[in-house]
Amino acid sequence: TMDWQSRLREKIRNIPDFPKLGILFKDITPLVRDPATLRLAVHHLIHPFVGAPITAVAGMEARGFIFGSLAAWELGVGFIPLRKPGKLPYDVQSVSYALEYGENTLEAHIDACGPGDRVLLVDDLLATGGTARASCELVERLGAEVYALAFVIELDELGGRQRLSPYPVHSLLHF
Ligand code: PRP
Ligand code: MG
Repeated sequence: TMDWQSRLREKIRNIPDFPKLGILFKDITPLVRDPATLRLAVHHLIHPFVGAPITAVAGMEARGFIFGSLAAWELGVGFIPLRKPGKLPYDVQSVSYALEYGENTLEAHIDACGPGDRVLLVDDLLATGGTARASCELVERLGAEVYALAFVIELDELGGRQRLSPYPVHSLLHF
């Protein structure tokens, strides 16, 4: 009779010093490998948005594709892949954002969404919020509205939620 959050936590593996020294990596592969916790995570990710006027879910490459496409399926809407540069074949809109060292870029097809769309952004993890912030900008540059953001894991100390203000942020687990 463990609560659902404890059941999810048990399936997240901590990997010290990955991908570099001093980083404690949250490995969600055991959680998605187990059918019960995969279903539980997706259920709670979409729960606040059932019946909401969302028209699409967007997920950030790569781990956001796992939860984002399942969330889209459960909400009965389509999925928008936000991709790392050079992967999308048609015309794209790009947004670059700063990392601790260097820069990242995310791209979307210019016809992925537009005016009238209300997009739910889904990713596995909210850390500094850089990836999510850039994703919001990308969706808005295409003329669509960001309805909210949903994450499986939020790392509270890194200030991602503040960085995403005033967008509504829904997270399942806080570390
Ligand atoms: C990780 C994670 C989030 C992002 C969070 O992705 O999946 O997308 O970092 O960090 P932030 O809030 O500081 O931006 P990563 O870029 O490592 O790649 P992956 O999803 O392709 O594994
Ligand atoms: Mg990612």
